This record gives sequence, structure tokens and C-alpha cells, in this order.
Amino acid sequence: MKKQLFFWLLAAGFPAAAQTPTPLTARQGKVKLTFMLAAGQPTYAVTYGTKAVVNASRLGLAFEGGQGFDGPLTLLGSEVKDVDETWQPVWGEVKNIRNHYQQLTVHLRQPAAPGRRLDVVFRVFADGVGFRYELPRQLALGNFVVSDELTEFALPADHQAFWIPGDYDTNEYLYTKSRLSAVDNAQQVKASTEIAVRDAPDAQAVATPLMLKADDGLYVNIHEAAQVDYPAMQLHVDRASHRLTARLVPNAVGSKAFLRAPSRTPWRTIIVSDKAPDILASKLILNLNEPSKLPTTDWIKPMKFVGVWWEMQIGKSDWKYANSADTLDAQGHLIPTGRHGANTANVKRYIDFAAAHHIAGVLVEGWNVGWEDWFGAWKEQVFDFVTPYPDFHVQEIKDYAQSKGVQMIMHNETSGSATSYEQHLDTAYQFMNRFGYPSVKTGYVGRIIPRGEHHDGQWMSNHFVRVAEMAAKHHVTVDMHESVRPTGLSRTYPNWLSGEAGRGNEYNAFSIGSPPEHETIMPFTRFIGGPMDYTPGIFKLQNFEPTGKRSVRTTLAKQLALYVVLYSPLQMAADLPENYEAHPDAFKFIEDVPVDWDDTRIVAAEPGDYITTVRKAKGENEWYLGSITDENARTQPVKLDFLPPGQRFEATIYADAKDADWQKNPASYQITKQVVTSKSTLTLRLAPGGGAAVSFKPVAGK
Ligand code: NOJ
Ligand code: CA
Repeated sequence: MKKQLFFWLLAAGFPAAAQTPTPLTARQGKVKLTFMLAAGQPTYAVTYGTKAVVNASRLGLAFEGGQGFDGPLTLLGSEVKDVDETWQPVWGEVKNIRNHYQQLTVHLRQPAAPGRRLDVVFRVFADGVGFRYELPRQLALGNFVVSDELTEFALPADHQAFWIPGDYDTNEYLYTKSRLSAVDNAQQVKASTEIAVRDAPDAQAVATPLMLKADDGLYVNIHEAAQVDYPAMQLHVDRASHRLTARLVPNAVGSKAFLRAPSRTPWRTIIVSDKAPDILASKLILNLNEPSKLPTTDWIKPMKFVGVWWEMQIGKSDWKYANSADTLDAQGHLIPTGRHGANTANVKRYIDFAAAHHIAGVLVEGWNVGWEDWFGAWKEQVFDFVTPYPDFHVQEIKDYAQSKGVQMIMHNETSGSATSYEQHLDTAYQFMNRFGYPSVKTGYVGRIIPRGEHHDGQWMSNHFVRVAEMAAKHHVTVDMHESVRPTGLSRTYPNWLSGEAGRGNEYNAFSIGSPPEHETIMPFTRFIGGPMDYTPGIFKLQNFEPTGKRSVRTTLAKQLALYVVLYSPLQMAADLPENYEAHPDAFKFIEDVPVDWDDTRIVAAEPGDYITTVRKAKGENEWYLGSITDENARTQPVKLDFLPPGQRFEATIYADAKDADWQKNPASYQITKQVVTSKSTLTLRLAPGGGAAVSFKPVAGK
């Protein structure tokens, strides 16, 4: 063995003995991947320049009944290839995405089950590594059941982690920042007062995307790409050794995945950089997903929307029409409570507001029969997705919205009954086509039916894809709530615009809410896999509900900044029309800000502290900036060198006023204008829990 190689192996944490003579490598920029068979055990390691990212770590898959790929394996061969291509997403944060990697494919054989073969495919990018297991078509392997995935990530030190519990059914948790050695989600799960089903049996398992920061300044994010026909991966943290081990969310009978060769797992992803903004700018996960499977995409329209929604969240009105589905009047009709939000007159009020303010869509929840009994219902059939309440006149609303040029957004809450939704899918989507709904928000509150399945297991991962496919067939875009967290599948199904799978703004309406640092962590965690329907834009930040107990823990200017910092092609203006009408000058930013971009620059970012993002509007010479901070006030200088040189722009700055403070004075803002060029610098002052939003529009005649 060459001396250099020997020392490298030691540095990368490989034991000196029991190496295959030739470790296999792939690299791109500073990132280097090494594959070894260590005493027959497939093993990989990743470095970034001279720094270890992942020390020698185990690979493998265990099968029910044995003879999987957990034992000693032999190497059959390997190939390396280089790929450098550029593609255009249907919508997104940038117009062009470069997919530049070196791929190493390793062919392995299980000698205990002669003929059984496994490939491990590594793609090495300048900003990280993706790898997956592929089981080629082979005589020695037909159906098989994965009992465990043996993938490990042996981290070289006790990094700081931004984590939520590895729950089988929800990601709607607050993030904890701690050393890996302090991960203990028992407290986190207990402290929760929320509505989601919670099932996190392993106190040391965390969810992905997992954001890590090493003491030597390296930022590492671990997640997955293209989670299809396979459960979500969580990570069990060994607190002493900082070794993370894959834990797959089980199915109803405790297995992990039923598969048949040929098949392949999702990609396991490691994004790495010594600069935090690079983690946010990474396109590694999208690059690892398959190109669009849809025959046409010109019907897919990103949009902003308002909705009959926040008023229910804050208790001003209700989803349900009657108190009980069993108590009927003499004519056999439900007895209205008078608090039903989704009534025709109220819906028209939102349509009018949208039309007056160039907001493309209106979402209406609680429009359909079934809300009297939906929550925690142990019933398969709660909603049929096509029967409106008597005060929701579906044809009249269609005609009215059309006359105003506004799009309606459908709501399909399934109450967790995925089987019932699948039975009704075709009818539900035909209904949307008939009544002019180009987009649907779905929901899975409660325990999943089929019983015993989890939101994040293999069965549901297939369900979500089936829904995206059915929606595409009907030219409908989707926003899935309570789904598994995204893994870049919007590249393959570009009508899958957004989702929840995280703790959105709504938690401020019905729970202890989220602290000011929350939105500075989300882009490094939940958003790594794809857009989120976070529902920003709350202007009445305190005393918005009858008890006066709740508040949104940001300033108003920060709510504006979230439209730039938190990317979603479907973006809600979540507050009530009357609350926007009280601040028309601030609402102008929400009216103006696009949902589709040509370019994005992360100006400054540190997880848990601050983020400043600048984006260029799709097809327009306009730029938008969002800057947010945690509970600390900050000054953020921004060089405007992203603007095209030699042109003058009018910058409209929506900033926290001097006395703004998320606790004491959240709605205090000031709007100023100034003419700037690419040579200018703006200095933004962010209040505690605050932010700033800026639009840059070309000055007429330059
Ligand atoms: C939870 C969703 O996140 C929320 O947006 C929705 O209003 C309720 N479920 C009711 O479907
Ligand atoms: Ca939710």
C-alpha cells in the first residue's frame, strides 16, 4: 500500500488492518468519497478538503429471513463516470440548475447466497455526496422484505445539531439545538401540546433533514432524495460515539419495506460546506431526483393565495356547519351554528380581496360535509370530497371567482383515511375540474387508515405519489399537509408544489407557538427537501384570538421577509382581509413579491441566528430581499452587487421601526424608498424577532 494512501485511510478513520488493497474513490471539488470493503463489510467515508465529514461508516441492507447484504460481501467490479449537465426546473429558486458530479458504482456479491448482487451508487458533487442501494434484476432475488437498513454516518466529533424527534407520524416539532451527545427526544415529545399524532419510540432517533455544525466550522446536512416506495429514514444517534445509524419507519407489521428486484432505495444525502449559505443554495437533492414524468407542464402555475382559513385557526369561525351530525331539525337537516366560515358570502369577500390585490387564489376549508365528526374519527369514511354544506354554493362561487379572474383552491382533509381518499380520488379530481379548482391542499390529520400504517412509512410514501399522479392527470397542483417531509420529488412531479411536514405559522394560533429563532432554522432543516406551505403574512400578531393568550413571535416586517426567505411556489397571505386592510402600505410587498425566480443569492446565513436572501423575479428585472433574525437585534449590511451594473433601481425598504420588538411592539414598521445601483450598500436594522423586506424595481428611463 502506498504510504500516502495508508495515512489517508488512518485519517479517514479506517482501521489499518483488513483493507481491500484498492479503496475506490470519486471526487468533485473539495469533496472526496472513498469506498472500501473492510473485512468484507462495505464501508464509505467522506472528506471535505483536509476535514473529515463522515469517517469510515457501514453500508448494507438486512432482509427478513436472512441472506440480505449485511454479511461479508465480495467486490465484483466498479465503474466511474463524470456527468456535467444543466437543466431547467418548471418553477423554482433559480432558472438553471447545474448537475455536475462524479459517479462511482460498486458491484457487490453476497457469497452466502451465491448469485445475489447489490450495487451501491455514489454521486459526488462539489457540495456533497448522494448514494443509494440498487438491486439489479437477478435470478437469485425476487421479492424481499427489508428488515433494516444498515447505513451509518460516523461523524468525527460531537457536533452541534438542530434536530426534531424521529417521529413516525409527524415533523411538527420545535427544533432543539444541542450537541449530538445530548439528543434525548423524550422531553420534546412530552412537552408537546399539539394536535398531530405522535409516535417516537426511540428517544435517540432524530428526523432528517438533520443540520449539523462542527466546531471547526464545517456545516453538514444529512437527508435523503427521491423517497419513493420506501419508508422515511430517521437517524439513531449514538451519544457516545456520535455515530448515526439509519432507522426506517416501520409498516403496520413492523417490517420496513416490501420490495422486488429490480429496485432501489432513495438516495442518502450529505451536503457539506464551510459556509452556511452554501447549504441553503445546494441543489444536490433536486439533482438526485428524476426529471419530470409529466407529459406537459405548461398548466402548472405557482401562485399566491388567501383563504378562509386563519379565521378558523384563531377561533373566529369554524370548519363545521353544525355542532353535531346526529342532531337534525324537523326537515332532517343539520342545525347550523351560525359560525360556519365557508359560507358563500364570506368566500366572496375573500374573492373580492384577492381580485383587488392581485392575489391569484382563494383557499376555502370547511366547505364540505363531515367536519362535525372529523377529528380523531375512527371511521374510514368521514368525507366524500364532493358534497358541499348547504351554505356553500359551489356553482355560484365558481362563477363569481371566474368573473373576478380568481382561482379557487380545493381543500381535501382526509382525517387520516388514505384508503377512503384513494377510493374517491378520481371523483374528487373530476369535481375540481368541473368547478374550476386548479389546485388542492390535502391533509392527513390523525391516525392513518390502513390501520397501523404511519404517515412516514412505505405505504404512505406510495400514497403521496399516487395522489400527485392523479392530480397531474387532472392538471391539478397539490400542497400536501401532514405528509412525509419532502425529498425533492417536485422535480419528478412538478405539480407537487408544496407541503407542510413541519411546524408552520399555524402553531402560533393554537399552541405555545414557535420562538423567533424558528424561521432561521427551518431553511436549514425542513426546507432542504423542498418548499413548505408555511403560511406567512400575519399582520395582527397579538390579541388575534378570543383568549388573548397566543401571539406570533415575530415583527410584522419579519412576516414580510419570510416571503423571500422561505421559498414556496404556493405562498399564502394567511391573515384576514380586514387585518391587511389596516396596513395597505405593508401589504404592497405581499402583492408585489413573486413566487417563481430566475436566481437566488444567500447573502448571509447562520442556522438559529439569521438569514438574508435575495432573489430575482422570473423573467423580470426586479429583485426582492428578505432578512430575518432570531430574538437578537442585528445590523445586516447588504452589498447590492447582485443588481445589474449601470442601472438605477428604486429600493422600497420595509423595515422594523426603531421601537419595534416582537414582544412589545411587533407591528411597528417603517417604509422608505431610495434609489440604488449595484455599487450601493444597504444597512438593514433588524429588531429583536424582526426582519426586513426590500423590493428593487428599475427606475423608469434608468
Ligand atoms: C392541519 C393543517 O395543517 C391545517 O392547515 C388545516 O387547516 C387543518 N389540518 C384542517 O384540515
Ligand atoms: Ca398540520
